[in-house]
Amino acid sequence: MKIIITKNYNDLSSKAVEFVVKEILRKKSAILGLPTGGTPMGLYRKLIKMKIDFSKIKIFTLDEYYGLDKNSNNSYYYYMKKYLFSHINIPEKNIYTLNGKAKNIDKECYQYEKLIKKNPIDLIVLGIGKDGHIGFNEPGSSLNSKTRLVNLDPSTRKANSIYFNNKIENVPKKALTVGISTIMSAKKILLLASGIEKADIIRNALKEDMSKDVPASVLKLHSHLTVILDNRASLNI
Ligand code: PGA
Repeated sequence: MKIIITKNYNDLSSKAVEFVVKEILRKKSAILGLPTGGTPMGLYRKLIKMKIDFSKIKIFTLDEYYGLDKNSNNSYYYYMKKYLFSHINIPEKNIYTLNGKAKNIDKECYQYEKLIKKNPIDLIVLGIGKDGHIGFNEPGSSLNSKTRLVNLDPSTRKANSIYFNNKIENVPKKALTVGISTIMSAKKILLLASGIEKADIIRNALKEDMSKDVPASVLKLHSHLTVILDNRASLNI
């Protein structure tokens, strides 16, 4: 595991974009797994400015709210389109997303897992929830978990209510997410964390024993894990 500590969010985003671009330049047809949330926004802003050729790149998104239409303002597809996809030259056919409104959710998840098997992810970028979730793998998730429908932790719904007019009752209770084993199957993993509110969970995940209660703690088992933190998120390590 390599840990890079940067002095602020802007530097974290610069280091992250450097890492991602290096991967794309190394492999013009790289397959990426990319997250939503506040943390990767700086990375996406900088990535767009670099005018990198995405014509051969494939991108898998990591999760989606259950029951939300992909064009709803709160869907993760909408987020990715707004903050990344609509600004880069990635062909629509190279974008893979989970459909939160699929009629057969089990089939949707199974097929996504199969697609990832067929298109092994070179680099997966992750944020981390305050409860240690990665993707939407909440505490208690099995190391062997695959893409599936999950219940969201109340703390996750509260954190994400900022996108739902600060009303927790508007945040879906369930989501589709790639599993922990799906994440661990990526060739490289880049974990990003910013802010004092992530300092405790970063210590738990990186410095304490692996535990199902802290899904991100399993990342330590990965042979190519890089963690980029800003100074505040690194305060307790
Ligand atoms: P954040 O979310 O980047 O908005 O803090 C991280 C996560 O929930 O995975």
